[in-house]
Amino acid sequence: MGSQTAIDTAPLIDSFGRVHKNLRISVTDRCNIRCFYCMPETVEFLPHKDILSFEEIARVVRVVAAAGVDRVRITGGEPLVRSQLHKLVGMVRAVEGIKDIAITTNGILLEDQAQRLKDAGLDRLNISLDTLDPKMYEKIARRKGLEKVLKGIVQAQEVGFKDIRLNAVALAGITETEIVPLALFARQNDLTLRFIEFMPLDGDQAWQTDQVISGETIRGVISEKVCELLPTKETVRSQPAVDFRYADGQGSVGFINSVSSPFCGACDRLRITADGRLRNCLFGTEEWNLIDTLRSGANDQTLLEIIRSGILKKKAGHGTDDVEFKRPGRAMYQIGG
Ligand code: 5AD
Ligand code: SF4
Repeated sequence: MGSQTAIDTAPLIDSFGRVHKNLRISVTDRCNIRCFYCMPETVEFLPHKDILSFEEIARVVRVVAAAGVDRVRITGGEPLVRSQLHKLVGMVRAVEGIKDIAITTNGILLEDQAQRLKDAGLDRLNISLDTLDPKMYEKIARRKGLEKVLKGIVQAQEVGFKDIRLNAVALAGITETEIVPLALFARQNDLTLRFIEFMPLDGDQAWQTDQVISGETIRGVISEKVCELLPTKETVRSQPAVDFRYADGQGSVGFINSVSSPFCGACDRLRITADGRLRNCLFGTEEWNLIDTLRSGANDQTLLEIIRSGILKKKAGHGTDDVEFKRPGRAMYQIGG
């Protein structure tokens, strides 16, 4: 348990007036596959002792929830490789003020865990799926796994998850052929597909602008070959995806145009890495050490003050289009997306 001293429950506002209500927690830097846009082939993982325990994570959630955070997303690496993850879901579920708990997963272990996660109170799932072609899957993920992912999706629907989202990273020179099959697959299976632009967060540091397929390009392809896409009326500003609905009423597609059209203006996210560092931005170069604070016997108010100071230093935008842009020292699997 954290210290019971009174804490300042004012909202977590940065210097641009953005109110932070959304916490993303990376629970591990490990993963059972090796997507080239995220991880290097060989990785040295964090030792277990340097990873936040479920109790420590739950304490952070309680502290930020007291200051208005109401949504939590659990990420990785691959979160389902963390043992007993459903227990963490249950612990977060028990925190007063948390309205929505989601997980971003590659789906490989989902068939086994979907029921437990549902029972523990998980609200939503995002499943990463860039291709429906097993050979291409293996080329991207540098491991086999497509069949398991597809079974995981079926099982997740079976146990009652609704509004499941598929995240597809679009990769120029590789996944152009996948746009239409993925769109049809999602439409047929009542899944919401979202295309994510390839961001300079790959572990190999090999990202090049010409590997990005813009969301606009993909929208054009889908409109022409699948069904016309129309803008949706209501967009949630803090949600990075811009959604379009099919003109025939059969579903929608979202585009996370993080490179061609950054969505920082309405960002309400804060992030915690598996080793207990607060990050105020995916692309930030600064981190605030929460794990040492948590383990030093500091009280909740001290913990929250450190979190507030990190949020106050959040920049207006990530600046990946700036000539001065510096890649963050960590790759996607170490941050959690
Ligand atoms: N650019 C864009 N998306 C990425 N992801 C991982 N690495 C990158 C990258 N470099 C995606 C994964 C997953 C989510 C956590 O982020 O596919 O869906
Ligand atoms: Fe693993 Fe996700 Fe990174 Fe792929 S993108 S290597 S599934 S953590």
